[in-house]
Amino acid sequence: MAKRKQTTELLNYGVKHIAFIMDGNGRWAKKRMRPRNFGHAEGAKRIFEIALDCNKRKIEVMSCYAFSTENWNRPQSEIDYLFKQLEVELKKKIPTLMKENIKLVTMGDITRLPLSTQEEINKAVNETSANSGLILNMGLNYGSYDEIIRGFKNIAKRIEANEIKSDDIDVKMIDNHLYTAGYPPLDLLIRTSGEMRLSNFMLWQLAYTELIFTPVYWPDYTPEQLELSLQEFSKRKRRYGGLDNE
Ligand code: IPE
Ligand code: IPE
Ligand code: MG
Repeated sequence: MAKRKQTTELLNYGVKHIAFIMDGNGRWAKKRMRPRNFGHAEGAKRIFEIALDCNKRKIEVMSCYAFSTENWNRPQSEIDYLFKQLEVELKKKIPTLMKENIKLVTMGDITRLPLSTQEEINKAVNETSANSGLILNMGLNYGSYDEIIRGFKNIAKRIEANEIKSDDIDVKMIDNHLYTAGYPPLDLLIRTSGEMRLSNFMLWQLAYTELIFTPVYWPDYTPEQLELSLQEFSKRKRRYGGLDNE
């Protein structure tokens, strides 16, 4: 009995902050001869399934790329669907987020999103703001260049106001002016669908993150897949420029 319990225990393998570039919804649908939006609907469900699993594993932060600053280049009908889908899914999931103690936050300028989507996001963010479990950090109209520019502008304003000097700028200060201020360093990034690029995602935060590129399309990325990714992470040797402690 005790043995069985041991094998089902969900471990985080030392990951405090995990991130996902959730890619491949369109190709997943195409493989099934279905419209791209069918893939987005399935992909939206996986976000919450994976978040629940990360929460059970006591991972502190899950950052995920839901809509990039470059995704505005897609057909308007697809953009509209993506935000409607997010809205509907969020509305459905607020009770679960509350029950599981998950806190929703966003990174990116959400003021460009449809008003009804903004309202649903703000509602979910406010309602879950006191939750102390997993922080589900959703990138919406997020781009790393935008994030870094925004941070630099805020630092420049503080210099202009004589609050700080240019010489005070260091890694910690820049960290503190990004959306991820106060979160643990990013341990692991997983990009699904076989693409091996960062597509403007968390460039600063990724300096010493372990990277996993899996061919699995996002709608097929189940908690079992997450277990495999975490096991792969656990075999990595993180040296940070130093030597193995052996
Ligand atoms: C990821 O899947 C979802 C978003 C970028 C919003 P894609 O829509 O990029 O799917 P593929 O890459 O075309 O298969
Ligand atoms: C990255 O995927 C953005 C999200 C997953 C939200 P894309 O599908 O937009 O990236 P590219 O265009 O293949 O680089
Ligand atoms: Mg894609």
